[in-house]
Amino acid sequence: MSHVLILGGDGYLGWPTAMYFSERGYDVTVVDNYFRRNACTALDTGMLYPVPTLIERAHIWHEKTGREIKVVIGDLAEPDVMRRLFDGRVTYAWAVNQAFSGIPETVVHYAEQPSAPYSLMNYEAADFTVVNNLRVTNNLLWAIRDFARDTHLIKLGTMGEYGTPNIDIEEGWLEIEHKGRKDTFLYPRQAGSLYHTTKIMDTDLMWFGVRMWDLKVTDLMQGPVYGIETDESAIDDRLKTIFNYDEIFGTIVNRFVTQAVVGYPLTVYGGGGQTRGYLNIRDTLQCVHVSEKNPAKSGELRIFNQIMETFSVNQLAELTQKVGNRRGHEVEVKSIPNPRKEAEEHYYNPAYQGLQEMGVKPHYLTEEVMDRLFEVVEQYKGNIRKEVIFKGVKW
Ligand SMILES: NC(=O)c1ccc[n+]([C@@H]2O[C@H](COP(=O)([O-])OP(=O)(O)OC[C@H]3O[C@@H](n4cnc5c(N)ncnc54)[C@H](O)[C@@H]3O)[C@@H](O)[C@H]2O)c1
Repeated sequence: MSHVLILGGDGYLGWPTAMYFSERGYDVTVVDNYFRRNACTALDTGMLYPVPTLIERAHIWHEKTGREIKVVIGDLAEPDVMRRLFDGRVTYAWAVNQAFSGIPETVVHYAEQPSAPYSLMNYEAADFTVVNNLRVTNNLLWAIRDFARDTHLIKLGTMGEYGTPNIDIEEGWLEIEHKGRKDTFLYPRQAGSLYHTTKIMDTDLMWFGVRMWDLKVTDLMQGPVYGIETDESAIDDRLKTIFNYDEIFGTIVNRFVTQAVVGYPLTVYGGGGQTRGYLNIRDTLQCVHVSEKNPAKSGELRIFNQIMETFSVNQLAELTQKVGNRRGHEVEVKSIPNPRKEAEEHYYNPAYQGLQEMGVKPHYLTEEVMDRLFEVVEQYKGNIRKEVIFKGVKW
C-alpha cells in the first residue's frame, strides 16, 4: 500500500483528498494544526454547518468504511513536527494502529494560509502568512532532503502566481530568446496579493531544492475551487468538508450561491471583467490523483495549470442569478467599488491541457452543477449569517 501524507488535512481540500485516497486503498496520514478553524472563530466568519474535528472525522470514516486515516495534530511551521513525520518519532492523535506508517511515497502539501484578503487584513496577518507559508514549505523541503529523496512532493500553488499578463500564460515555463540565444525559465510571476506572493516564493524554494538535491516536485497552479460534495462525503453528512461563505475564506462561487440563497446582493468588484480559471472540488481530487500516479522525475519541477474553464466575475454573477431566480430566489447583482488593486478588464489566455492529457475528466460549471450546490446550501439556509459576509478588507 502506497503511503500518502497530506499536510493541511483538516482543510476544505485536505479532508476530501484524504478520504479519496483512503477509499482507493492508500495508506493515508493527515496533519493539521486547526489554523483555519481557529482563524474562522477569531474572525467570526461563520460556517454553513458545523464540522466535527479532524480526529472525530477520522473516527467516523473508520466506523463507516473500516478504513484508517491516521491523524497528527501539530504546527508544521515547527521544524521538529515536520521531521518527526519522516524519521519515525511521530505520535498519532488518532490511529487504529500506532505503528509508524513509514516514509511516504507522496506528500500532498496544502498546509498554508490560503486567503488573499486575510494576507492583507493588517500587518499581523501579513506577517503570519509570510512566515507560516514559507516556513512550512522550507521545513518540508529539508525533511525530504534529509530523509526521503525518493518522495514525490505535490504542492498546491495558485494561478494567481502569474497575475494577468498581456501574453498567453504557459504551464509554468517560458522559452525566452534574448540577443540571439535561447533558454527556458520559470514563467514570469507577478501576484496581486501577499498570499499569492508566498506561493511564488514557495515555487522558488522548490525550484532550488530540485536543482540542488534532485527532488521530485509537482507544483499545481490551481484556480479558485467550488463545490461541497464528493463521492466519499456522500456516505455520511458529518464527512462533508468545511464550507465558508464570507469574503475572507469563502471562494467566489460558493460565496455567490450562499448570498443568492439569503437575498444578499452578489457583490461584483468594480467592472466585473476580472477573468480567472475555476474548477470543481471533484477535479482537484482527480488532478492530485493523476499527479500521484505519474510522479515527477528526480530533479524535475513539473508545473500544471489546474483549472478546467475560465469565467469573468460578471459571467459567474449572471449564472448564479439565472439559476437562483429559477429556484425562486430574488437575486440582485450589485457592483461595489473595487477594494482590490487589480485590472478589471484584461487579456487572459492560460494553457491548461497537461492534467487532462494525463487523464483528468473535467466537471464543468453547468446550470445542473450549480443547481446541486444551491440545493445543499438551501438545506442550511437557517445557519447563514448575512452580517459576516462582507468584511471590507482593502488592498
Ligand atoms: N480552495 C481554493 O480555491 C484554492 C485555490 C488555489 C490554491 N489553493 C491552495 O490549496 C491549499 C488548500 O486550500 P484549502 O482551500 O483547502 O485551504 P484550507 O485553509 O481549508 O486548508 C489548509 C489547511 O492547512 C492547515 N494549516 C495551515 N498552516 C498550517 C501549519 N503551520 N501547520 C499545520 N497545518 C496548517 C489549516 O489549518 C487548514 O486546515 C492551500 O495551500 C491553498 O493556498 C486553494
